[in-house]
Amino acid sequence: MFTFRPIGYARTPYKNTQQVPKGLGAKQEAEGVLEILPEFEAGLTDIEGFSHLIVIWVFDRSEGFELIGTPPSDNRPHGVFAARSPRRPNPIGLTVVELLRRDGTRLHVRGVDMLDGTPILDLKPYLSSIPFEKLRRGWLAEAEARTRK
Ligand SMILES: C[S@@+](CC[C@H](N)C(=O)[O-])C[C@H]1O[C@@H](n2cnc3c(N)ncnc32)[C@H](O)[C@@H]1O
Repeated sequence: MFTFRPIGYARTPYKNTQQVPKGLGAKQEAEGVLEILPEFEAGLTDIEGFSHLIVIWVFDRSEGFELIGTPPSDNRPHGVFAARSPRRPNPIGLTVVELLRRDGTRLHVRGVDMLDGTPILDLKPYLSSIPFEKLRRGWLAEAEARTRK
């Protein structure tokens, strides 16, 4: 077992899960603030140079898990590890956000999809090294193609 503690909390416009855009083509463009606890401020040194960050956080308001489920972006069931469901054995969320600016321990970002008050476990700079042509989008690409027909 592992024990984690939050390094901060996300401030977002979303008070409940229904408010977060979902389904095929949903765009995550909402702005929010990642409020990092003062004791971790030194860890933000040099973060301003990165355009995008990986935010690792906890689905603190989901219960239990489902190994097979039907996501809002498809009408077919998929395995939890082939999807981004909040109902996972380890309820860890991961979101890539655009860093707009830093104001001390407050990181203003765009692209939040987590609820207001969500605990943040970690931040890392986003460094994509996978060429676009090598990426495969699995069932999501098939679901997108079906909706275009
Ligand atoms: C599909 S998940 C994807 C989250 C993240 N981008 C990921 O891939 O891990 C996003 C959904 O999780 C739910 N959610 C967001 N914050 C949550 C929280 N703190 N606790 C439980 N569910 C949450 C909302 O319903 C939101 O639409």
